[in-house]
Amino acid sequence: MKKLLIPFLLLGLAFSVNADMNQHKMEAKKITGAFFNELKGELGKGMKAGGPVTAIGICNAVAPALAAKHSKETGWEVARTSLKLRNPANAPDAWETKVLKQFEDRRAKGEGPDTLAYAEKVEEGGQEYFRFMKGIVMPPAEKMPCLKCHGENIDPKTAAKLDELYPQDKARGYKAGQVRGAFTLKKKL
Ligand code: HEC
Repeated sequence: MKKLLIPFLLLGLAFSVNADMNQHKMEAKKITGAFFNELKGELGKGMKAGGPVTAIGICNAVAPALAAKHSKETGWEVARTSLKLRNPANAPDAWETKVLKQFEDRRAKGEGPDTLAYAEKVEEGGQEYFRFMKGIVMPPAEKMPCLKCHGENIDPKTAAKLDELYPQDKARGYKAGQVRGAFTLKKKL
């Protein structure tokens, strides 16, 4: 009887670890969705109020503030990152760089934008973390205005404003369908 019990206990443990992972993943997805919706809302308001030049000013102040707000509210570290940055403060660490490259590979192999996510339990400096990333793929111009500020044909006034605020900007020249970056979330376990 005892011999049987041990495999069952191990199986039970494996299931509960998996259930925990799924729980964290669901929470991370929810936070990502809320953050993205608020970002799109603020961006839309800015675009309506005064086009891209006004919206850049809003993005510049609001995007980091929203990330900070979601981090404070949820206890997760919430941010955006990319391999081609606009704001150097959004730079990826080694784990994020690896996952961003993985997203580009998956995209190149034909994976759709909606499933581009990755979660892992990692150990850093003796502490365990749950880390999650959700890829951000450039939508076509008729769906969202992203390409106005990240695309190939940026209006000169918009480009001048970007030059002023982000002298090292690399986040231009994108085409619809390319991986622009990712939401990145991290929580202490
Ligand atoms: C009005 C211009 C504008 C539009 C439109 C715009 N962005 Fe941006 N984007 C910015 C600015 C400005 C930043 C830098 C924000 C900051 O300082 O954190 C940025 C940063 C980002 C980042 C963070 C990584 C980095 O490079 O710093 C991502 C990801 C991103 N944008 C994706 C998008 C997507 C997706 C859309 C469409 C839904 C979009 N952007 C539309 C101006 C714009």
